[in-house]
Amino acid sequence: MNKESNGTENNIGDYWDSRAAADRPISWMGHPYISKSFNEKVYGSSSSKWGAGLFEVLKKKYLQKGGSFKRAIAVACGNGRKEMQLVKEGMIDHIKMYELATSRIEEGRAMAKRMGIQNKVEFVYGNAFEMEKEKEKYDLVIWLNAIHHMMDTPAAVQWSSDMLLKGGFFVMDDYVGPNRFQWPRIVMQYCNKARAKFPDSIFKRSEQFSRKRHRVMRVVDQNMVSGVDPSEAADSARILEAISYIFPKREEFLYSSGVSTLALNDISSRILDERYKHFIDHTIQLDQDLAGKGHIGFASVIAVK
Ligand SMILES: C[S@@+](CC[C@H](N)C(=O)[O-])C[C@H]1O[C@@H](n2cnc3c(N)ncnc32)[C@H](O)[C@@H]1O
Repeated sequence: MNKESNGTENNIGDYWDSRAAADRPISWMGHPYISKSFNEKVYGSSSSKWGAGLFEVLKKKYLQKGGSFKRAIAVACGNGRKEMQLVKEGMIDHIKMYELATSRIEEGRAMAKRMGIQNKVEFVYGNAFEMEKEKEKYDLVIWLNAIHHMMDTPAAVQWSSDMLLKGGFFVMDDYVGPNRFQWPRIVMQYCNKARAKFPDSIFKRSEQFSRKRHRVMRVVDQNMVSGVDPSEAADSARILEAISYIFPKREEFLYSSGVSTLALNDISSRILDERYKHFIDHTIQLDQDLAGKGHIGFASVIAVK
């Protein structure tokens, strides 16, 4: 598909191209201690890489010993780093990855070369829903931090099922909370309870961090969210419901209410030191309490067709 064909897709791609070029601070998912804590609690894994525990479960519980997925497909892969790691580890023989930001595709292709797996990965610019015509062709469909960028998420889940061979796997790890991050009051209250414990210094400007952070968080303006990236959480609230309908055979990990991302994301680069672990633990505890009450903002799923 050529780049001139769709305005919204261009806006999405351009935003993620600019993000690729910008200096990206650590997100909550990139914080080793936060990742490790979630891996331990959710999957019983000791990895400190975000989401690694999910693929350990997939491998140990669902993949035949020594087996691999022959043909995988991913949408909104960014630079495809996480998917390519699975190729490198021998879990996936070949993967096709769709993306709208050309700079991320270039980054991914260079990474594939460095990893020596360029024959096993294919990056495609364009709309996977239009370009993938043949059904029942793949044995794995992966969505990592990606399905919440789809404009019609039940259609994306149905498309995933259509792409899969019988017995194939659907795996996702994503934001599944309110559209455009319109969090309910209780989530904001728990987030601010968590942030209240952190020392003042975290939120102040310093030599290292030029921007001030607000201790108290508010729900973000939804028009701003869609204005910055039209695909951002456009239809996230329907993801889990769609999966439950389309994939009755599945394992769900409803691991966060959203409190951790809200309370920790903008300060993650500032709380790398050991002395902040205690505050992080407190935040994750509040997060899990709320998730236990049914407020789900992030989840992962392994489903079988
Ligand atoms: C939050 S990033 C996630 C990237 C990657 N999956 C990761 O976990 O690092 C979302 C990505 O989705 C891409 N994107 C959004 N809508 C898309 C679409 N309809 N098709 C393909 N890529 C899309 C954006 O360009 C962006 O790179």
